[in-house]
Amino acid sequence: MIDLDFFQNQIRKSYPALDRSLEEVLADGGQRVRTLADRILRNYSALFPNEPERLGRAYAILVTEVNRLQLKYEMTGHYTESEYSRALTNVYRNDQRMTDYMLGVACTQFAWPNHFELFRFFEDRFLKCIRPANVLEIAPGHGLLGLTLLEHHASARLTGIDISPASVRLSGMIAEQFGQQRARYIEQNALELSHDFHDLFDTVICGELMEHLPAPLLLCQNIAKAMTPNAEAYVTAAITAEAPDHIYEFITEDEVIALYEEAGLKVVERLCAGTKPLTGRAKGAPRVLATILRRK
Ligand SMILES: C[S@@+](CC[C@H](N)C(=O)[O-])C[C@H]1O[C@@H](n2cnc3c(N)ncnc32)[C@H](O)[C@@H]1O
Repeated sequence: MIDLDFFQNQIRKSYPALDRSLEEVLADGGQRVRTLADRILRNYSALFPNEPERLGRAYAILVTEVNRLQLKYEMTGHYTESEYSRALTNVYRNDQRMTDYMLGVACTQFAWPNHFELFRFFEDRFLKCIRPANVLEIAPGHGLLGLTLLEHHASARLTGIDISPASVRLSGMIAEQFGQQRARYIEQNALELSHDFHDLFDTVICGELMEHLPAPLLLCQNIAKAMTPNAEAYVTAAITAEAPDHIYEFITEDEVIALYEEAGLKVVERLCAGTKPLTGRAKGAPRVLATILRRK
């Protein structure tokens, strides 16, 4: 099991180019970011007791790849991947790659200032205002968002659906590590939800899936269908921000909101958090729009 000191030392020694930004976010975020970092690092590293360096390595690989792709995107004006089927084969169904990718994304929740800001918004503005009983988490990936909800709300139960077997497995393992028995995860395409999912959930979470899909409107419609009339949803979407499996390019926040509206959802609250573009040629800052949604 590793902690923040171990992680920071590993980054300092093996990936010195990433050290400064990590130090900055830890200095700016105070005790809250340190507590989150320790919670993530201790629990996820406990899943891989023989590989103490795995989280640091996964984080470094993710940051390096995302930076390389973001630079290419800003220079060419389009995302590298455009075919969902290729992302499915190369990323979601590639167990080793997907597990490391999701371990890296879990670390970004404390290590990237914008992800930490979004995580605080999720806890402070969403989790504190809901009274969940039956929760649907779409695309849990690493599982942290839904499991944090369950920690805040002792009577909630969660169903997580993800297309990636590795994500389903990782989410199940981390739930067990957290001692959480109110979560279950199943392999399921969010674009093919049956009637069994309709009008069932008082709370829906869907973090960073919109930009992964060829038809994000269909996802918004499925979210709206899954919600009971007074339900609340927390949905995020990446805008002008590259990753190996981003295929749908949102350029403005309004484009994202328009899809929610078209699907019958209204925005109750929102936060957009990003970082500086890498070049002067970028269409916009790489950022993530988080929204709290209700049915119209
Ligand atoms: C970037 S991760 C999101 C992780 C986490 N929700 C977060 O916000 O950090 C994207 C997840 O979407 C999943 N995914 C991609 N296409 C999907 C689909 N059609 N249905 C369900 N899950 C999908 C991937 O397997 C991956 O776990």
